[in-house]
Amino acid sequence: MKSSTTQGVKILSTGSAVPHISLNNDQMSEIVQTSDEWISTRTGIKERRLLTGSQQSVADLAIVASKKALDKISMDPSQIDLIILATSSPNDLFGSASQIQHSIGAINAVAFDLTAACSGFVLGLVTASQFIQNGSYCSVLVIGADVLSKWIDWSDRSTCILFGDAAGAAILQSCPSTENSILNFQLNTDGHYSHHLSIPYQDDKKPHSFLNLHQGSFKYISMNGKEVYKFAVSQVPLSILKCLNSLNMSVNDINWLLLHQANERILNAVAEKLSISRDKIIANLSKYGNTSAASIPLALDEAVQEGKIANNDVLVVAGFGAGLTWGTIIVRWKEL
Ligand code: UT7
Repeated sequence: MKSSTTQGVKILSTGSAVPHISLNNDQMSEIVQTSDEWISTRTGIKERRLLTGSQQSVADLAIVASKKALDKISMDPSQIDLIILATSSPNDLFGSASQIQHSIGAINAVAFDLTAACSGFVLGLVTASQFIQNGSYCSVLVIGADVLSKWIDWSDRSTCILFGDAAGAAILQSCPSTENSILNFQLNTDGHYSHHLSIPYQDDKKPHSFLNLHQGSFKYISMNGKEVYKFAVSQVPLSILKCLNSLNMSVNDINWLLLHQANERILNAVAEKLSISRDKIIANLSKYGNTSAASIPLALDEAVQEGKIANNDVLVVAGFGAGLTWGTIIVRWKEL
């Protein structure tokens, strides 16, 4: 896309939340037949955080992350016009965003969920930017949050070692177009390969007695890791290049590469394909694993807290995952 920007969009603040309970690779090897050596070398993951205990849901993490983002800039929640919750693990199939709206006191905000798995935060940022750029809304809270531990088959070593629970949030606000931070985006979906990564719904075998009505439930995460890996490494660099090209920018203009934190080997392979040096990669998956929609805002929040990102730095943010859906946003960072 090439937007005819009327309003600029600025990322005002970020926040994140992870559960207290962590499970390292050695502990994981007591649950399934695996080892720290296998997980570390194949994925770069060392440990992950898990939301344990009953009555705990994705909304709890999302609320903490949102409050942190608001507190950082002492923003009154009533100023928020829109809340977008990117999640694939809501605690209510009708959506969890309204619970967050109520809990943080964003009384003037409309709130909805957006389901796009690991690309959810990228799609959420793009959606928020559209509302701001066309003048509909001024302040938008975008949250990426997932608790995939609730949807994992804990006897399947090919998936249970990968995922962790977390939430990340960003507050976007309109600004003069000269100060615009969201420079461009590029989004894609290829539903032909949706079966490579899904949490499928399955009908119960026995229909309801009187209407041949089938009811059912969602199953566990099912993933063809090799295919998803190949897809990410081949498609993500192309998306980034398209996005840069339409801005007449090159990979040399990139200060930071912030990819969905799925696998360290994917981060390195994408950087290598683009000839971007490894020290420009933002990575925190060793501590948290793949946190799905939360991985990008969590890594962004940590990088901001560490003071890594300087004013006017160019960040290439790319998400990829189930759908299969993938996409890139190019951000010129404006100091918070
Ligand atoms: O967030 C959404 C996006 N998701 C992704 O990006 C995931 C992309 N895929 C990946 O990251 C990788 O494909 C995995 C990390 C999931 C798997 O790595 P791989 O190098 O593709 O391994 P593999 O599935 O080909 O398995 C290699 C071997 C197999 O044994 P055989 O058949 O060679 O004897 C597996 O059974 O490793 C075995 N294996 C394990 N061994 C120890 C699979 N999982 C494990 C395990 N521990 N946890």
